Amino acid sequence: MARDCYPAPVSGPKRELPVVYSPGVETNAEQSHATKGLVRLTMACNERCPFCNVPMEDYPERHTPEAELDAAVTRFAAEGEKTLTISGGEPTLLRDRLLALARRARAAGIELIEVQTNATLIDVAYATDLAEAGVTSAFVSLLSDLPELHDELAGLAGAFEPCLTGIDALLDAGIRVALNPVVAASTQARLPDYVDFVARRLPRVRSISVSAVQPHGRASSRPELLPDYAVLGPAIREARHRAEAAGIELLNPYCGVPVCVGWEDALERSVEAIEAREAGQRDESAPGVVNRGDKRHGPPCDPCVHRGRCGGAWHAYWAHRAGSGLAPTARVFDPFSGRPPSPLESVVDAQRLDGRAERDLAAADRPAVWLRLARLVRGDGERARRAGCTHLALCLSPSDLVVGEEAYLELLAIDREGRRGLPQHRLRVSLGLRPDTSPRRMVRALFAASAAGIGEVRLLSRDHRRWSSLLQGVERSLPRLDVALVAPPEPDR
Ligand SMILES: C[S@@+](CC[C@H](N)C(=O)[O-])C[C@H]1O[C@@H](n2cnc3c(N)ncnc32)[C@H](O)[C@@H]1O
Ligand code: SF4
Repeated sequence: MARDCYPAPVSGPKRELPVVYSPGVETNAEQSHATKGLVRLTMACNERCPFCNVPMEDYPERHTPEAELDAAVTRFAAEGEKTLTISGGEPTLLRDRLLALARRARAAGIELIEVQTNATLIDVAYATDLAEAGVTSAFVSLLSDLPELHDELAGLAGAFEPCLTGIDALLDAGIRVALNPVVAASTQARLPDYVDFVARRLPRVRSISVSAVQPHGRASSRPELLPDYAVLGPAIREARHRAEAAGIELLNPYCGVPVCVGWEDALERSVEAIEAREAGQRDESAPGVVNRGDKRHGPPCDPCVHRGRCGGAWHAYWAHRAGSGLAPTARVFDPFSGRPPSPLESVVDAQRLDGRAERDLAAADRPAVWLRLARLVRGDGERARRAGCTHLALCLSPSDLVVGEEAYLELLAIDREGRRGLPQHRLRVSLGLRPDTSPRRMVRALFAASAAGIGEVRLLSRDHRRWSSLLQGVERSLPRLDVALVAPPEPDR
């Protein structure tokens, strides 16, 4: 579940007892993707999941004081929240307090009350009490279709059967159930079997949030638990296929995986992509996934068409698995090639960035949004980014790339700004260079482009013979700059 992927705030060696409020998405498809409230009733738990992102040993104070819970419920209700998630620890350990909290939330006007639980302590009588108290849905950590794998990941022998009994009881009481498998290295290849198992054994369950071990809490010191996306990607594609046949909805939550790991053709089920798109539509922020800085893009992401709708992988994933399995499933087009963009890209053409171009950018609704400009002035990069632009294609002359020129200063500023922020928010710049009569000026311009962080330059000329030795020389001296000759629409003058 997206909202619960965030561990509680850390305050030095002693952690605050958390009542967190974080952006999230409902796992049940019929519910909205808006921000919701979450409270942790207790940090105590009867299980010992080795991956737990909020382990009880990190919280000296076990139970959240009632006054704090009350204040949170009152605040959520005042803010117009319609959903409250009650998590933990294991909230069903405090049986009566959980019922009382649900009743209070209901009385305050909160309509949907979700309990996050391992379900092992829930029997028919208690499930009925929960329903009567106002609990409408449960988010249950069923960790595998195999008892031994589930128990190992729950850190509790014999947890599997009580978990299933609890799920049955919740469903019998009329409480909707969504499952959270928290895919780990030991279970990644079995995801399609998990879906089959749910369809067979729990046919009333219609929703699975495919989260994967997030490297926080206990999992931060157990990187071997992280799945390998090279294995998980194909498993997710197969699981989605089987889920669709069984009428089960799978969701890729914040704690899930990058878009290219099996979700490339289902952005509408990928929480980060949904949130990035909605933020753009509300005109609240620049494009790109706003996360807590716990994920990032890496080198394979650079040409990816989904950069603006994907937050990349956990830092620990890049470190521990070296980005295994991360590769763009679709690359952005070459804006100077004369070929059309892919259906995943929008292109706004403008001589300069004016109000109309900004409006066109804001209206573009594809993962990659190009702005093709013939002139760059100070501030254009930030204005374009804020309007929704993810990729800038500039058609410039070598004289624009001279120290002190406005375009060059702006390119440096775009590069500086990009390095300062998250890689997923970086504006990617492609340069089309109009040829100059002087090869020396051309070489200088290419060095200037490289110094301004540009990785891709297209020399707009049909004259191969004239430029081939220059290109070879540049390849040797600037190996990280991708320079190629492309034919411009009109012959060189
Ligand atoms: C901390 S648990 C508390 C609720 C309850 N005890 C349970 O096990 O479901 C809240 C949710 O976070 C999930 N979770 C815990 N650690 C995680 C991790 N490292 N990565 C992804 N999800 C995690 C759990 O599976 C559960 O759905
Ligand atoms: S941005 Fe990176 S992690 Fe995300 S889909 Fe593209 S290649 Fe994969």
